[in-house]
Amino acid sequence: MGDGRQAAQARATVLVTGGAGYIGSHTVLALLQAGWPVLVLDNLCNASAESLRRVERIAGRPAPLVVGDIRDEALLDDLLARHQIGSVLHFAGLKAVGESVARPLDYYANNVAGTGVLLRCLGRAGVRRFVFSSSATVYGDPETVPLHEEARTGPTNPYGRSKWMVEMMLEDLAAAEPDWAVGILRYFNPVGAHESGLIGEDPAGIPNNLMPFVAQVAVGRREHLGVFGGDWPTADGTGVRDYIHVVDLARGHLAALERVHAHAGAFTVNLGTGKGFSVLEMVHAFERASGRPVPYRVVERRAGDIAECWADPRRALELLGWRAELGIERMCEDAWRWQSRNPDGYRGATAPG
Ligand code: NAD
Ligand code: UD1
Repeated sequence: MGDGRQAAQARATVLVTGGAGYIGSHTVLALLQAGWPVLVLDNLCNASAESLRRVERIAGRPAPLVVGDIRDEALLDDLLARHQIGSVLHFAGLKAVGESVARPLDYYANNVAGTGVLLRCLGRAGVRRFVFSSSATVYGDPETVPLHEEARTGPTNPYGRSKWMVEMMLEDLAAAEPDWAVGILRYFNPVGAHESGLIGEDPAGIPNNLMPFVAQVAVGRREHLGVFGGDWPTADGTGVRDYIHVVDLARGHLAALERVHAHAGAFTVNLGTGKGFSVLEMVHAFERASGRPVPYRVVERRAGDIAECWADPRRALELLGWRAELGIERMCEDAWRWQSRNPDGYRGATAPG
């Protein structure tokens, strides 16, 4: 495409589904700071509009929100007719593994059928640049690490299968209609928060994931961490993962957005650091960053867990010119700033000064 057309498209608004959530809000901030106009579509089933008010405060630019569902075809058609949308970052979805085992149809309806509705509306409106939030969970139990994008896939739970199905749907769509430009981003373990301490991860109820749980123990909301297994075949016996700072992840989306604006076709990349850390290494890093003890007890392994998982991040560098920059110290410092200034998350909060 010619330079003029590219420049015109670069000014078109980015529709961010699920943009009020954890990763979405950090990415909206990065987009605004890079000069992209955004429009957020979120049904607020797992988020608060307060996150976007704080994003606006940091960026000094508007982050408009449409409260609505990606499965609402009439709403989408109307939104696409009213706004000049050039591309979509699609974060909206349900993400709790245990809940997906208990209520699989909710996951297939929201994540798979919902994405189908969204894609159909976008296609009709002529919006064919699309970046999807996939997950390292599509690899299931890895045969070897690090995980390259061509590694065997085979998720082990309905949540993971919903991500895998959307990946296949997107590949089939890009093959059938070559003017689509599709980026599939497989995140490893997003943690941390923006350095302002104003936005961060705010899970409802008992956190499923390690770092929000650790942060709540450090701040005194919970007594101790249960470490899921101390007999894994790893250096210290606890599970090893590739933790990636959410601000690095947000930058990865900007790079993917540039790519879908420049090239048609589909690509799949891992977004990880390429390094694995154990549960105990993360606990100790958090204790150093917060200056607080994080008491823990080794308990039974969690059903469906794996020993270790980290990314081969080379393709993201080759294709997108992106690599993760922030280490676990920054992840823990930033998570602690957010947690200690907002001990109850966004609920009932007035933004700290
Ligand atoms: P999140 O729950 O904070 O954000 C998801 C957002 O989507 C929420 O704001 C929610 O209200 C919204 N949403 C859900 N269903 C919707 C619907 N039908 N219509 C409109 N909005 C809807 O989760 P997150 O951690 O920010 O994750 C964002 C995406 O990244 C998800 O698709 C998730 O599966 C994927 N992902 C997350 C992780 C992780 O560890 N956080 C890892 C890999 C992939
Ligand atoms: C989990 C999901 C995965 C999802 C990913 C997103 C499961 C089985 N898998 O993966 O589908 O893509 O989150 O980030 O839920 N741990 C504890 N105690 C806790 C919580 C976790 O010891 O209270 C351990 C886990 O056993 C694991 C590590 O901490 O070794 C990380 O756990 P978690 O944050 O839940 O991420 P994943 O297991 O990688």
